[in-house]
Amino acid sequence: MKLIAVLLLPLLTSLTIVCPPVHYQPTNSTAGYPKLTPGTDGPADPATTQYQFNHVALLVKDLAETRKFYGDLLGMRMIFLYEETEDYSIMYMAHSQGGKNGTEYQTGAEMIAEKNDMQGLIEFTSSKSFTRSREYVPNTRQTLSHLGLIVPDVKALQERAEAFNATILKRVDDAPSLDNGSVVALGFGIDPASEEAQELIAPTKALGFFQFLVFADPDGNLIKAQQQIGSAAV
Ligand SMILES: *[C@@H]1O[C@H](CO)[C@@H](O)[C@H](O)[C@H]1NC(C)=O
Ligand SMILES: *[C@@H]1O[C@H](CO)[C@@H](O)[C@H](O)[C@H]1NC(C)=O
Ligand SMILES: *[C@@H]1O[C@H](CO)[C@@H](O)[C@H](O)[C@H]1NC(C)=O
Ligand SMILES: *[C@@H]1O[C@H](CO)[C@@H](O)[C@H](O)[C@H]1NC(C)=O
Repeated sequence: MKLIAVLLLPLLTSLTIVCPPVHYQPTNSTAGYPKLTPGTDGPADPATTQYQFNHVALLVKDLAETRKFYGDLLGMRMIFLYEETEDYSIMYMAHSQGGKNGTEYQTGAEMIAEKNDMQGLIEFTSSKSFTRSREYVPNTRQTLSHLGLIVPDVKALQERAEAFNATILKRVDDAPSLDNGSVVALGFGIDPASEEAQELIAPTKALGFFQFLVFADPDGNLIKAQQQIGSAAV
């Protein structure tokens, strides 16, 4: 049962594992929705061996502000800053991967050396010639929904984010708002004005969504934090 609950979560959320306090009662495929289909893909084409997803890239307004948010609040490290001109820069950040548990420090040089063998990096690009705002305006046509973060204690992160004055959009245990224009609903692909919004939100409770923390980076991109499996603080 626990395995099924764990498997279900990625469906509506992301490809991460959490330990939900609510056990989801699955229905079989002929009994209607929601339903879960575990992956049954066979081995990948050997030609794709060692392909791995390395980074996502965001266009940002202010690299210093971005670095403070992802660094001071979320613990990512700057791998490098590349300034092509005075106006155009690229910065890579990631959590140190000397140990995902954060116990092993890596210098910037070590992280650069390992960069193409790491996962979960973010590339931030900023250009001063971009005059338009980098504000995230969620709508159901947005293709980037959110960045997913796993933490050992999501409530402790919520306190950190509050102290940091980050924009918190959904606190742990709160229901996602269905107010018109709800950033969280729109960011997760639900039109809050639609008739089925309430119906769509309800199952997400069973899937653990209510326990997630949703907050925004300085450019308004949504970050969803979920509790690491096996942690005491659920
Ligand atoms: C699936 O659901 C249908 C309809 O509710 C039921 O008749 C069938 O026995 C179920 N199958 C399994 C494997 O649970
Ligand atoms: C942290 O991860 C490293 C390997 O990356 C491992 O050797 C070490 O035992 C881990 N420490 C804890 C406290 O889990
Ligand atoms: C957050 O806001 C409070 C009140 O405006 C301020 O005192 C505090 O310094 C701010 N914290 C940070 C990290 O900016
Ligand atoms: C949301 O907007 C729609 C269309 O503009 C309107 O019909 C509906 O009453 C609004 N709902 C709420 C809860 O404000």
